[in-house]
Amino acid sequence: MLNGKTGIGFRKDFEEDFLTGTILKPYFIEVAPENWIDMGGYWKKIFDKVTERYPLTCHGLSLSLGSPDELDWDFLKKLKVFLKQYKVQLYSEHLSYAKCDNAHLYDLLPIPFREDAVKHIIERIKTVQDFLEQKIAIENVSYYTPVAAEMEEYTFISEIVNGADCRLLLDVNNVYVNSFNHKYDAHDFIKRLPLDKVAYMHMAGHLQVEEDLIIDTHAENIIDPVFDLFDYTIQLVKPVPVLLERDYNFPEFEQLQGELNRLQKICNNAWIPQHAAAN
Ligand SMILES: [Fe+2]
Repeated sequence: MLNGKTGIGFRKDFEEDFLTGTILKPYFIEVAPENWIDMGGYWKKIFDKVTERYPLTCHGLSLSLGSPDELDWDFLKKLKVFLKQYKVQLYSEHLSYAKCDNAHLYDLLPIPFREDAVKHIIERIKTVQDFLEQKIAIENVSYYTPVAAEMEEYTFISEIVNGADCRLLLDVNNVYVNSFNHKYDAHDFIKRLPLDKVAYMHMAGHLQVEEDLIIDTHAENIIDPVFDLFDYTIQLVKPVPVLLERDYNFPEFEQLQGELNRLQKICNNAWIPQHAAAN
């Protein structure tokens, strides 16, 4: 059971430590299935060893839920086999789009917060869930320019999650980044989300590049206000797995494990009542 536990993304750079478990001690690992589905040889063997040791969650990059293009059925067929093979119960994707006119844009672009987009995405999520025979979780993304919005982002997310009957991957750092850049109240935003549907959470670092602009880099340590927002949020949410996202600019493993420990302590205090009483 991963609820209330913390994990980290598996990367090739972490191979040795993940297999010996000397410094990094996550309860689970996350990968982008796109990076591993067609893997063979040495790295397939390593991946199999690592996934024998740690439960696996998957966070996709290429489903492109917001695109007008057809779903990529070749990818979905491979994905279904992969999820079953590695017993992945938690598969999530971004509430964004990455393809247009059959071209892969190699970015996670914001979908206009509009009623026609809501209808389109609900149908796509339902199609994917029916095919995979499991619910998926969709993630609130960071974005820098709202595109032709007709509604608030929290309404957009809520209508999709409730309409598709899917789960929500709540990325707390993304809420913080958006609330700073678009000048709204992060606590109020979180309260308006469908919190009963949260099945997974992400935490990450970001970079402030201008007085009024933060970029969601996944390359910095998590700052205290994001830890505080996380602490606030998990009081409102049932226990779920929590992932530390770190994709670039890696610190020493001790530092990463320190962030995992801090997250785990906040989770324990909120989600294990006797733990809070003992502190
Ligand atoms: Fe995330």
